[in-house]
Amino acid sequence: MESKDVKVTIRPYKISDVDDFMIYAGDESVTRFTRCETFISKEEAINYIKNFCIPHPFCRSICIDDRSIGLIFIMPCTGDYNKCRAVLGYAVAAEYWGQGIATMAVKMIVSQGFKEFPDVIRIEALVQVENKASQRVLQKAGFTQEALLRKYTYNKGEVRDMFMFSLLSSDHHP
Ligand SMILES: CC(C)(COP(=O)(O)OP(=O)(O)OC[C@H]1O[C@@H](n2cnc3c(N)ncnc32)[C@H](O)[C@@H]1OP(=O)(O)O)[C@@H](O)C(=O)NCCC(=O)NCCS
Repeated sequence: MESKDVKVTIRPYKISDVDDFMIYAGDESVTRFTRCETFISKEEAINYIKNFCIPHPFCRSICIDDRSIGLIFIMPCTGDYNKCRAVLGYAVAAEYWGQGIATMAVKMIVSQGFKEFPDVIRIEALVQVENKASQRVLQKAGFTQEALLRKYTYNKGEVRDMFMFSLLSSDHHP
């Protein structure tokens, strides 16, 4: 069920987000399909916010009433061959699932990302085949499912089949 009343924003991280960050980053049901291990201490969460989220080219806190309830990023690829594309990743605290929040955040960061990085004409996301909710988020945000990449990558110790999704700037109509 989507709540039209929820006011979702995305903004840069602050160290003071750490307690809210731990709610989702410390939850195995959230980290399961991501590259992140589940955070177990506040200290490692502070270091992650300080050393990854804040210096990152485009990592944002998904917020309700300015309170952090998820993470989303667009990472532009580097080098002359790859600068046309960027990689998208996101996660939302479990208590907020099913309200359309990830879809809203993806739409927002995609709009901002195409403006922020003029070289980027393709934003792509790799999603584990079992992660139906994330596939649905990308579909709702206008991404195209391109391919099934068999035995493509390791996650949480096992080799995984992944779907590749993409959105081109030319397909993007905010
Ligand atoms: C994936 C994730 C970000 C979705 O967040 P969310 O705010 O609940 O997403 P939305 O509410 O915008 O959309 C979820 C959609 O998936 C659907 N969905 C949820 N579970 C599903 C399932 N098991 N099978 C099929 N569809 C499912 C929902 O019904 C909804 O679709 P609808 O609007 O058509 O009903 C959230 O589940 C999460 O953080 N998961 C862990 C981290 C993760 O997987 N990140 C992405 C890595 S690629």
